[in-house]
Amino acid sequence: MKFISINEAMKKGRGQVAVRGWVFRERGSNKFKFLILRDVTNTIQCILPHEKFEKQWGEIDKIQVETSVEIFGTIKKDSRAPTGYEIQVSKINIIGLSDKFPINKSLNEELLGDRRHLWLRSRKMISIMKIRSTVTGALHEYFRSKGFYEFQSPVIIPGGAEEGPTMFEINYFKKKMYLAQTWQLYAESAIYSLEKIYCIAPSFRAEKSKTSRHLTEYWHTEMEIAWANLDEIMDYAEEMTKYVLKKVLEKNKEELEFLGRDIKKLGPALKKKFPRVTYDEVLKILKDKKKMKVSWGKDLRTIEEEKFMELYDTPVFVTNYPKEVMAFYKPRDPKNPKTARCFDMLGPEANGELIGGSERDINIEELKKSLKSKGEKLEDYSHYFDIHSYGAVPHGGYGLGTERLIKWICGLDTIKDAIAFPRTMTRTSP
Ligand code: 4AD
Ligand code: MG
Repeated sequence: MKFISINEAMKKGRGQVAVRGWVFRERGSNKFKFLILRDVTNTIQCILPHEKFEKQWGEIDKIQVETSVEIFGTIKKDSRAPTGYEIQVSKINIIGLSDKFPINKSLNEELLGDRRHLWLRSRKMISIMKIRSTVTGALHEYFRSKGFYEFQSPVIIPGGAEEGPTMFEINYFKKKMYLAQTWQLYAESAIYSLEKIYCIAPSFRAEKSKTSRHLTEYWHTEMEIAWANLDEIMDYAEEMTKYVLKKVLEKNKEELEFLGRDIKKLGPALKKKFPRVTYDEVLKILKDKKKMKVSWGKDLRTIEEEKFMELYDTPVFVTNYPKEVMAFYKPRDPKNPKTARCFDMLGPEANGELIGGSERDINIEELKKSLKSKGEKLEDYSHYFDIHSYGAVPHGGYGLGTERLIKWICGLDTIKDAIAFPRTMTRTSP
């Protein structure tokens, strides 16, 4: 008999079925053994009467949570069973016995972190991982449907792009090299051949932040596009975000429900246009509506972003941050020269910066000036200047923190749960 999934078996609803998976719960008496079987699709109650398994009873009695089994039997509707169906088992093959599963409700976050390789089997993590798969799948679909090519860049790189102090140094045959913080500088070379490109890959940040939204290794969804200006780049960011949300709401209602996510909170982001507000306007709004005074010229801090975002139920684009505190490649805005042509897309519900993007400076002298003011060595960037010496065109792009988007969509307390095996300052195993 061919094995089918638990969901397929329940769809069938009656007759003979063969299913397999892991024991999610078990209880028994000397007359019956009740197993709740779990596979990737669902769970189902299975009942084994002692009298039918006289010879095998010793073995069946040893079944603990997480034992893997193959089950053959008759399925029928049963309103008392947890998922509405029950299998009357006629044959069971025990594939792998399980030791006492060391995961229980009393474990704290730290211990669950240590046992992450087992905690992944929890319904919580399964739900999140399914949503994560929808998110990354939707991101690929979105970019490809818009005519983007997937383009990859090296992870081991000779110099930086974002802030120097957040680079992980590696010993590369006794030479200092670094782990990439972004794909961007390589992407800027490649738009001259492919024009519209994207990538989903790990980025690394040696950030000493122990916050609910910082990982040291995260999956960075980046795009770069030739000929585009800031507004067009933000259009992509907004459309992409809406596309992903729509797909998750289509495919993962059950998982969101299991996670206790109030999906009404995601509705506005699907329906409304995301506001676009300048940094100057943010300072004014913070002063008027939140009685917070922020002195002009600094990047917004978490608390300021959060207070500001209390006023919105969709993501918001904040544009035109002060030029001096921005990465060197963000160009000065000729209309407001103290600011750069850049944006952050902030998430609602205190989720902070989800996306950072900008137009790119193609003026080599300006680039050199910015780099010098940040104490960077110009030699490290010679290839970057070179790109802009041969038919430079206006271009730009953005980077999305994929886990931050997942955290918001799932309504998670911490970004660590948005990835299977998180890496943070203090979490390095398993
Ligand atoms: O704002 P960032 O530093 O921008 C860049 O790296 C640009 N080069 C991207 C580009 O234009 N191609 O990072 C982009 C996004 C942030 O908005 C944030 O969501 C996420 O990456 N991010 C992190 N996510 C998790 N943990 C961290 N430590 C992160 N640092 C940035
Ligand atoms: Mg940023």
